[in-house]
Amino acid sequence: MARDWEHCYRTGETPWDKGMAAPPLEEMIGRAGPALFRNGPVLVPGCGLGHDVRVIAALGLETLGLDLSETAVALARGIQPAGRESYETGDFLDPAWAAGRRCAAIWEHTCFCAIDPSLRDAYASACAALLDEGGILCGVFYLTPHDPGEEHEGPPFETSIEELERRFSPWFEKIDGWVPAAAYPGREGREWIGIFRRLPHAPVA
Ligand SMILES: C[S@@+](CC[C@H](N)C(=O)[O-])C[C@H]1O[C@@H](n2cnc3c(N)ncnc32)[C@H](O)[C@@H]1O
Repeated sequence: MARDWEHCYRTGETPWDKGMAAPPLEEMIGRAGPALFRNGPVLVPGCGLGHDVRVIAALGLETLGLDLSETAVALARGIQPAGRESYETGDFLDPAWAAGRRCAAIWEHTCFCAIDPSLRDAYASACAALLDEGGILCGVFYLTPHDPGEEHEGPPFETSIEELERRFSPWFEKIDGWVPAAAYPGREGREWIGIFRRLPHAPVA
């Protein structure tokens, strides 16, 4: 059954929210430089309370945090702004939400692993639809949320570097990728930073 994200935020059952931005985001900015975001605007899908949004906005970039949950968005709006950030409630996978919008870069953190795996191609095409040629999709992807043999029901749903490269390959070329040294406690070695650039061809239907 699909997770009721709004219910989770209303009841405070949000174990993924660590009260701070993803440590790999700072690591990526340190390695690639803020120019990776191409002067914005930057979109953060599945932004939750917006911790990552504020790190990017603090670089001076217009940054939009998007989340399905109205409560998450209301909570994010209630936190001291860091710059030119804003928040919206909406479904990243809904082409009607994306229609007519453009961003220079997308930062992903625990949205890809939160959606049902059957929707991963829709996620990749949503990214492609929002970025023009040269646009950047970067993120920290949660590869192995569970130990081998551990009983679990996602989300989070696991993935692999090979799957990520395959899912994004119709629209993106990979330009960098590494296992971050910085991580929330317990996520060490389980994540992968991927940076992809939008290819000039292959329009989204
Ligand atoms: C695991 S949480 C991570 C939130 C945030 N990135 C963090 O680390 O605190 C996944 C988030 O994605 C949001 N989400 C799930 N599917 C979404 C969709 N299709 N469009 C927008 N947000 C979505 C959920 O509401 C939730 O806030």
